[in-house]
Amino acid sequence: MPGGAEFSFATWMAAALSKVEQALERWVVAPQVAQMAPDLPRAMRYAVLDGGKRLRPLLVLAAQEACVAQAGTLGATSEAALRAACAVELIHAYSLVHDDMPCMDNDVLRRGKPTVHVEFGQATALLAGDALQALAFELLTPAEQDIDPVIQARLCAQLARAAGHGGMAGGQAIDLAHVGRSLKRAELQRMHELKTGALLQGSVVMGALCGAADAHAVAGLTAYGAAIGLAFQVVDDVLDVTADSATLGKTAGKDAHANKPTYVSTMGLQASQRYAHTLLLQAEKALRDSGLRETRALQALARMVVERAH
Ligand code: IPE
Ligand code: IPE
Ligand code: MG
Ligand code: MG
Ligand code: MG
Repeated sequence: MPGGAEFSFATWMAAALSKVEQALERWVVAPQVAQMAPDLPRAMRYAVLDGGKRLRPLLVLAAQEACVAQAGTLGATSEAALRAACAVELIHAYSLVHDDMPCMDNDVLRRGKPTVHVEFGQATALLAGDALQALAFELLTPAEQDIDPVIQARLCAQLARAAGHGGMAGGQAIDLAHVGRSLKRAELQRMHELKTGALLQGSVVMGALCGAADAHAVAGLTAYGAAIGLAFQVVDDVLDVTADSATLGKTAGKDAHANKPTYVSTMGLQASQRYAHTLLLQAEKALRDSGLRETRALQALARMVVERAH
């Protein structure tokens, strides 16, 4: 993706999505295994394949490509980046399976299909989440591939941090502890940064790691990841109010129904929409300050986060 050449985001995205879909199909337990009893591998495939915007994998690949372009050595997506992209998606899919369970948000629709616990039962849903999390780290540490062990270790550390108590799981705990209660703006922001922002930011940073980014680029991409990570959940809160279930592929209006504190319930709808756009401007500025020369895919992904319809 050279700096001066024509760039079509649609073409870039189609190529990136195809790589990610093929890799997930290959790496999330073979279909033959999934046909056998017990249901666990089938539930894992059900949770990951056929659906999802794959935003986190796209961020990994776009960040890696931006960093590689800066070094002047354009090329194909690296094996490490493809593995990182899929690993993040597995953690995300696991978080959705657990988020939908009756002990959490109690949702019956996800990605346009019945949720995993509705289809397979709660015990299998719980285990599918557990097993997807384990598989993510297995993907990052392949014995058969020549990936620098230091990069492997850093990718594992980054993903673990983004998923754990200081990231997604910690944010989910805050979310559940505040059902029926209001949150101050700063607390709400913290909850969203953890439950959703951490994994999106982690995706960008993992891409930077795979692209051997220098410290300046890592700082810029980290700031970009923070802005779009928070924006993503602000927009999720907005869409819960403005979109319908068919468009979302999940039940609309759940937040108000479940009495969750959200940006919409805290700031109102229009202020939330304006805030998402402010965060987009912050993300764009972070890219300009990153020193990276080729950021068009990352720019377009930031716009997608804020302007998406589902
Ligand atoms: C939904 O994430 C859950 C949140 C973190 C808000 P996505 O909107 O990225 O879900 P999929 O992957 O496209 O289904
Ligand atoms: C979920 O937030 C964030 C996760 C870590 C899965 P939500 O509960 O708002 O996500 P949706 O709206 O169910 O997708
Ligand atoms: Mg939730
Ligand atoms: Mg939910
Ligand atoms: Mg939501």
